[in-house]
Amino acid sequence: MNDVNGKRIRLVNEYLSEVNLNSELVRYYKGRNILVTGGAGAIGSNLILALSEMVGSGGKVVILDNLSSIKEKKAWNVVPLSNIMFVGGDVRSDVDLKRIFKEDITIVFHLAAFFANQNSVDYPETSVDVDIIGLIKLLEYSRIARVEKFIYASSGCAIYGSYPKLPLKEDFVSMHLTTPYQINKMTGEMYCNFYAHHYDMRIVNCRFFNSYGPGEVPGQYRNVIPNFIYWAMKGQPLPITGTGEETRDFSYVLDLIQGLIKGGFYTEAVGENFNLAAGREISILEMAKLVNETTGNKAGLVFMPRRKWDTKPRLLASIEKAQKLINYDPRVEFKDGFLKNIEWFKDNWEMIEKMADFYPGMSSAVRGIVKK
Ligand SMILES: NC(=O)c1ccc[n+]([C@@H]2O[C@H](COP(=O)([O-])OP(=O)(O)OC[C@H]3O[C@@H](n4cnc5c(N)ncnc54)[C@H](O)[C@@H]3O)[C@@H](O)[C@H]2O)c1
Repeated sequence: MNDVNGKRIRLVNEYLSEVNLNSELVRYYKGRNILVTGGAGAIGSNLILALSEMVGSGGKVVILDNLSSIKEKKAWNVVPLSNIMFVGGDVRSDVDLKRIFKEDITIVFHLAAFFANQNSVDYPETSVDVDIIGLIKLLEYSRIARVEKFIYASSGCAIYGSYPKLPLKEDFVSMHLTTPYQINKMTGEMYCNFYAHHYDMRIVNCRFFNSYGPGEVPGQYRNVIPNFIYWAMKGQPLPITGTGEETRDFSYVLDLIQGLIKGGFYTEAVGENFNLAAGREISILEMAKLVNETTGNKAGLVFMPRRKWDTKPRLLASIEKAQKLINYDPRVEFKDGFLKNIEWFKDNWEMIEKMADFYPGMSSAVRGIVKK
């Protein structure tokens, strides 16, 4: 185990011990075989470490991931541990799914997705293929295997539309969505609800908001925080698409992992949908200034027009429902999580530079900004 991987494991384990998970929950996960699709991704690569600790030596965490969100097809973000099994494959492939479900899977966390908004605008058909066909196939295999729980990674930005009342509560749903990704994520929840109703599957819909933290490799279709850190570390100006006064509910990835683990355990979560977020607003300007200050980047900011699909001036989630249902308790201050994010970038800079998937000219979000 190299130092960098050891540090990543310690970070997750320290977090889990601070959260003080109840003993029934700890027993619930012990010895299980759990499938995490998208387990090599930003959120998944953290979830697998938490689950590896929880299932212990009697169980295993099986990852199904086609590594499509990084440049080189190498599972470098997956820390090699004896109870983690990586399968490089596709959620749309029967061959891969048959292989996976031979492993006596009892819980599925479905995180694989065609990420995210801009990617789906550029490739709408692939977005449907992965996010809808892939989901239905996985639900079918999970149903036949009689898995106990199926946890679906939904998205806050997909459900609530552009101008709802803040904070965003679960019972408000908008039909006015602005990207195929949003439409597909919402449709995904609807398919989950169909399988829950028709086949009595125990399904939990978790709606994440703006994840950040160790594990997310920057790229043309990635979130703003890793991309800003990447550009700042390269001494480039940070491109703000809008005025910078827009806000997001940036949520530390390990807080989201806490929500997933609790969501997979509590019976009260079954058949429900709930937000997983920090429950606080941070402006893009405030975040961008912090990035430049922390990295010593003198290149400043550049302002560009807002992207057409980006119609959300503010995002703030209500986390009341998750607090009540699953005792969700996000605890990481924005700056603390951000500093952990920077540390991970510094520790992994060589790999991050190699894996970051920027392809100038392809994505209208970064066209003209990114230098090779
Ligand atoms: N990151 C966020 O801020 C955020 C917010 C809301 C919802 N979500 C949802 O949470 C989930 C995880 O997000 P993330 O940020 O970790 O994304 P990510 O892109 O880092 O991880 C997804 C993983 O899925 C894999 N994948 C893509 N297509 C696949 C396929 N056809 N078969 C197998 N694997 C495939 C990718 O290689 C990647 O490793 C996604 O479903 C995403 O839509 C994320």
